[in-house]
Amino acid sequence: MIVIAGAGGFIGGALVRYFHERGFTRIRAVDKKPLGEWYQSTSAAENLCLDVSEEENCVRACEGANEVYTLAADMGGMGFIERFRIECLRSVLINTHLIEAAYRAGVERYFYSSSACVYNTDLQKDPHVRPLKESDAYPAMAERGYGWEKLISEMFCQEYWHERKMKTFIARFHNVYGPFGTWEGGREKAPAAISRKLIEAKHQQAPQIEIWGDGSQTRSYMFIDDCVKGVDLITHCDDLIAKPINLGSSEMVSVNQLADLVQEFAGIKPGRQYILDAPKGVAGRNSDNSMIKSILGWEPNTPLREGMRKTYAWIEEEYLRRSPRRPSSSGGINDSVLAVERKSVPIASIPARPLEKANEPSVAEQ
Ligand SMILES: NC(=O)c1ccc[n+]([C@@H]2O[C@H](COP(=O)([O-])OP(=O)(O)OC[C@H]3O[C@@H](n4cnc5c(N)ncnc54)[C@H](O)[C@@H]3O)[C@@H](O)[C@H]2O)c1
Repeated sequence: MIVIAGAGGFIGGALVRYFHERGFTRIRAVDKKPLGEWYQSTSAAENLCLDVSEEENCVRACEGANEVYTLAADMGGMGFIERFRIECLRSVLINTHLIEAAYRAGVERYFYSSSACVYNTDLQKDPHVRPLKESDAYPAMAERGYGWEKLISEMFCQEYWHERKMKTFIARFHNVYGPFGTWEGGREKAPAAISRKLIEAKHQQAPQIEIWGDGSQTRSYMFIDDCVKGVDLITHCDDLIAKPINLGSSEMVSVNQLADLVQEFAGIKPGRQYILDAPKGVAGRNSDNSMIKSILGWEPNTPLREGMRKTYAWIEEEYLRRSPRRPSSSGGINDSVLAVERKSVPIASIPARPLEKANEPSVAEQ
């Protein structure tokens, strides 16, 4: 039995589909959201609505499990993780209870989704940053809230191997994007946020779009297909037991370059209003893929242009589906990414809180 927690979200949902398409029949998909709000679902899986920050729900989730994949977390783009640090920190309950329940259930392999946000922020102050290698997490100066939660959860995974001999696997994801991801509501990241802004500008004839920061901040972005393949490869490689490893693309671009690319798909060239006091995270971040290449002989390799073309097409399709009376001049929507069972993408619910800055934009980017 494969158990995937966070299956109602972007990566968890894609992972359920990935295993299902490879012929696995015993898959349990778990998320705290009601099933109708899952980004996608596979009817062949056992789909359960459970909050896995509660111990007894973790016991239920892990019954009969051979492998457990922890993709559940309260997270979002930079706007979310800078503003809701307590929610991010509270995700520590998820891994804490799930890993113990997995251990008690005799699980053979346990996967944990960590993040590049564990890396020392002092090493990420320049847009032309040296790519981050696995050892750069220590001495630790992780991203406040979210990054520290990931770092302590990694440590749980490492100790469950060292003390109790449960095989644990830890991937540090660098920004993941693709169809079925969050593209509105406040938790979306830069690829989806920029796509949506350009789609809105195109269909509403807006003269300009907002960009958070000055557009020089750099990141690398991994396409979702590479992410789920990497999770599978990492979890089934015994050389990687309890060894955190980067899972990300090494194709680094600035936010301005990302916007230039997406503009080509939109076929428009609006002006850019730079919001300099918006949340923008570290100045630069890229993935050093030496370890993954040497151990797995593979690295995430979908070109950004190819992945963004599919992502843009999917977001535009979703946007037009929500707004059927808006005139469409899109054309060319890529059917291949739409030919799967789909549920509507819900607007993420962020707890109502006073904003820290009165004029803070409502879109999250990382
Ligand atoms: N997307 C990225 O770029 C990225 C980058 C680095 C790390 N990660 C990590 O990958 C994992 C998956 O991210 P994602 O992009 O799919 O996020 P997501 O928000 O789309 O999915 C997370 C899912 O977890 C569920 N969840 C949250 N708390 C839960 C709980 N207590 N019980 C059950 N379900 C719960 C949510 O309802 C949501 O459906 C997370 O751990 C995230 O921190 C993602």
